[in-house]
Amino acid sequence: MINPLAQQLNDTLKGSVVDALMSDLGKRLYFPNGIISQGGEAAKDASLANGTIGMAVANGTPIELESYKKMMPTLGPRETVAYAKTAGNPDVRKLWKEKIIEKNPDLKNKTFSMPILVPGLTAVLSYVCDLFVDVDKPLLAADPSWDNYELIASARRGAEFHQFKCFENGKFNIPGIEKAMKADAEKYGSVRIILNFPQNPSGYSPTKDEAKELVRIVKEIAESGKKVMVLSDDAYFGLNYEDDIEPQSLFSYMADVHENVLAIKADGPTKEDFAWGFRTGFITFASKALTEDQITALTTKFMAAIRSSVSCASTPSQSLILKGYKAGNIENEKKEFRKILERRYAIVRKFVNEHKSDYIEPLPFNSGYFMSFDTKKINAEELRVKLLKEHGIGTIQIDPQTLRVAFSSLDEENIEVVYSAIYKVADEMGKN
Ligand SMILES: Cc1ncc(COP(=O)(O)O)c(C=O)c1O
Repeated sequence: MINPLAQQLNDTLKGSVVDALMSDLGKRLYFPNGIISQGGEAAKDASLANGTIGMAVANGTPIELESYKKMMPTLGPRETVAYAKTAGNPDVRKLWKEKIIEKNPDLKNKTFSMPILVPGLTAVLSYVCDLFVDVDKPLLAADPSWDNYELIASARRGAEFHQFKCFENGKFNIPGIEKAMKADAEKYGSVRIILNFPQNPSGYSPTKDEAKELVRIVKEIAESGKKVMVLSDDAYFGLNYEDDIEPQSLFSYMADVHENVLAIKADGPTKEDFAWGFRTGFITFASKALTEDQITALTTKFMAAIRSSVSCASTPSQSLILKGYKAGNIENEKKEFRKILERRYAIVRKFVNEHKSDYIEPLPFNSGYFMSFDTKKINAEELRVKLLKEHGIGTIQIDPQTLRVAFSSLDEENIEVVYSAIYKVADEMGKN
């Protein structure tokens, strides 16, 4: 099925030389009318506060870890202009593996691959889908979820994009996930699911009990003889603001849950280390019965995907990561920045706890960069446009019922003003 936006582009190109030459993939590609274009509008009109961007911003400038900033002018030619290896600098890969274990102590005695370095988490998702998702191998993800998942699965891979409702009656929808996974398992003999926590756009992470339930569901499907690929998108890992959140990546549990489960971890410095422009991400995988040779073979498959698309990632950012971590202070600096986000979360949390509206309701949130409102009967796009044009506030419409606010990019002193305006405009729209 061709996306209507792709169709519009195809109609414009109809009869041209481009149309005559284009591949199936070319015909399916479209640029979502979503986060990037709405962010562009906000850059022009959000004079008061811009809550569209998935970066952490203070006083209008992206925050930057001192450890990275300091190292920028110190790099030599081997650390900048020299080619990087296809799967990334081996020292960086080793360092990241150690960091994964530090952050997920359950992995200490489990076997998992060396992380493969690619240009950002988007590349991780794209390569994983290159290898495992196609026309009769659908990808299952949350609704709402990051718009790039569908673009990668449907347009790039020509696959069906299946979704489960992430929340039902104001709660994380474990029964919905179970039903959707079992339906795919039944129909296709296997399941490929992407689980993203802290989640974009809701800002939700499962509690310890909910994480156990997710593992139980995957295990049950695996025990029934069906194969399961669980891709954990850990882009916002570690940004947890409540005590009951499961502190480890689901990958830690999926890594050896059953021989029918392939666990894949997508992570990287992009959001965790506040280094969005570095374009570095890691693919790490594990499965209970994979041999060393099989781990090497799958690593080689990923290297082929890298080689045949971008050849390798950029060298300077790999050098900066290595030197930044080796300097020894990065974890302290990250803690300081996390505190900034946590303070912003606390202000937002307090505000929404103290304000009720008949027309908008926050989706559950406890982590990450964002929170979202269920805008119920109000059209989220109309709400977004009013906030932008009448109040100078940038937000993102994810779908007609979901408005996302990136508190990561709102200065503390603006949060009350922004949220007061959101509730006021929503109430006015609802009453009219
Ligand atoms: C859930 C999620 N995964 C992956 C990414 C992509 O990260 P990167 O910029 O490293 O490609 C984003 C970026 O917004 C995201 O929100």
